[in-house]
Amino acid sequence: MTTTAPFWLGTSWKMTKTLGEAGAYADALRSAVEAEDVPPDLRLFVLPAATSLAVVHDRLAGSGVTIGSQNAHPGPDLAVTGEVSMDMVRDAGASLVEIGHAERRTLLGETDDMVADKVAAAVSAGLTPLLCVGETAAERAHGETADVLTRQVRTALGRLEAAVPDELLVAYEPHWAIGSNGRAAVPEEVAEGIAVVRDELDRHLPGARTAVLYGGSVNAGNAADLVTGLDVDGLFVGRAAWTVAGLLDLAHRCADALRNRGLRQPNPDLVSAIVRKDQR
Ligand code: 13P
Repeated sequence: MTTTAPFWLGTSWKMTKTLGEAGAYADALRSAVEAEDVPPDLRLFVLPAATSLAVVHDRLAGSGVTIGSQNAHPGPDLAVTGEVSMDMVRDAGASLVEIGHAERRTLLGETDDMVADKVAAAVSAGLTPLLCVGETAAERAHGETADVLTRQVRTALGRLEAAVPDELLVAYEPHWAIGSNGRAAVPEEVAEGIAVVRDELDRHLPGARTAVLYGGSVNAGNAADLVTGLDVDGLFVGRAAWTVAGLLDLAHRCADALRNRGLRQPNPDLVSAIVRKDQR
């Protein structure tokens, strides 16, 4: 990450919030932005449910907060009952679209191939993909983390053909770290994943504007350590940012940690343990 690149901080609301709650969150966030209670070096994003995209977009228009969808169907066939298309979520105000979240992969059977279709469709529709990758606890226990992440990133980018996205966000979200049954990861556990993702992005999209985020049980207690201890371009949060107070608290912790980052020496054990390109 260059020193001028923004630091991403955002939340997926998953299946929470009625229309009224979504609008109230957006109003409160807008007030915080207007009161300059959001550190300027952060790029905030929120991913409402599809039902609330339009209202959140309307309420946050011009605030600088980026709006995204948690999912969209790749099409091109529009006769897919119950889905919403990339064009529809863009029309409702999304500029980001999340693709391949762990919950969709495990609960809904989203495969690497489906993820690849969605990434290509998102780019064609003018949306910025927020691609989620991550290993399961069993894969980590078997030492397969690097292989799994390499495969997930490589496959996800495999249908872009000549189209290079203007911008691509990738969130490294180990499955074992997500949600109320998840175990918060420590920087040492996350470092390998971040490095593997960066390496794979450099290989397939050299020179592209990419950002690598970490997600999974980020909270007020661990955010500063994750920011200071990792070469990460952002944090992707669930539960801890489902209130505006929670999001703002994390924003200030991240901004403080970013200011301390340059003071810390890289940990040589992490650096040497990370990517073994020649073994893949
Ligand atoms: P939690 O922060 O609630 O673990 O969720 C993280 C997540 O899934 C973000 O995509």
